[in-house]
Amino acid sequence: MNILAIETSCDETAAAVVKDGTKIISNIVATSTAMHEKYGGIVPEVAAREQLKCIIPVITEAVAAFSGGVSESMNQCIIEHIDAIAVTIGPGLIGSLLVGVETAKTIAFVTGKPIIPINHVIAHMYANFVNGKNIEFPAISLVVSGGHTELYLMKSVKDLTWIGGTLDDAAGECFDKTARLLGFGHGGGVAIEKAAKKGDIYLPRPMMNDETHNFSFSGLKTAVMREWKKLNNPELASAFAYEIQESITDVLVAKTLRAAKQHHAKSILLSGGVAANLRLREKLKEAISCQLSAISLFVPPAQLCTDNAVSIASYAYFRGEPADWHAVTAVPDLSVEKV
Ligand code: KG4
Ligand code: ZN
Repeated sequence: MNILAIETSCDETAAAVVKDGTKIISNIVATSTAMHEKYGGIVPEVAAREQLKCIIPVITEAVAAFSGGVSESMNQCIIEHIDAIAVTIGPGLIGSLLVGVETAKTIAFVTGKPIIPINHVIAHMYANFVNGKNIEFPAISLVVSGGHTELYLMKSVKDLTWIGGTLDDAAGECFDKTARLLGFGHGGGVAIEKAAKKGDIYLPRPMMNDETHNFSFSGLKTAVMREWKKLNNPELASAFAYEIQESITDVLVAKTLRAAKQHHAKSILLSGGVAANLRLREKLKEAISCQLSAISLFVPPAQLCTDNAVSIASYAYFRGEPADWHAVTAVPDLSVEKV
């Protein structure tokens, strides 16, 4: 079964075709990062306008894999080779979501293909099922992105329960906001990871030893702000970057391992943009081998951690439900708890 997926929840415009939830046929991602750097962050209207310009070329490229050198129209490729269209309906920015949702609905109407509405945050974890991984259940799944830090218990590929999440800022948001404070502009977690160098800064590990599966990162951001202002020395930026990364990754690792122990997990799945962080991957791997060596760790390649349409297609295959296209709408605040 070939699923064409469309993802426009934030500033990326992505389309992909995945066969049977596991085999990537195409994976196209267009970003407008340069544009956002100019404005010092994502301006929703600017993002949506850029997405409007590139959504059709991105989808055309995603389905071109089937045209075999013959110049077939996008709709013709879809009619002949695609079985269903999956689209992110939320959570995300309303303008951006509308570009993907309205395009997907139009294509579904014109081609007569079923449409599958998708929750983008839940879909992140299905990047781990691409390429036919043998994941044993129960599994604990940590989704860490720019807007979400969520823990799920997975009893099967379909059976998901939300067990905890952030009470305030997400881990990625904390990376992004502190990066800006340290003068790394719109570089976010990637800039912090690159700059990180051990120094003499100490920051708290919020809620690390708390018994729940919840997180809180706004206090960390405030602590960075306070210390950074107090020390008032730009030369300390790499030491701050190091300690911010250590604090966030310590908390994520400790909480994920606690959940895995409590639920007797056989696997841990990591996903979302922050999962691209090498320090997080390394620490999680090390902690598992020291404390829970029977558990297997699954982490997607970096390009499937950040926003992409492959995970949307994979999720649609394993857990999606086709809907009447009339009823498909963008839901910016779509729940990630009721799954
Ligand atoms: O999943 P994603 O691409 O978009 C959302 O759904 O939010 O995640 C973006 C987040 C941003 O906060 C970004 O700073 C963070 O992922 N991120 C990283 C790294 N790469 C992306 N954080 C830490 N280290 C990285 N290497
Ligand atoms: Zn995301």
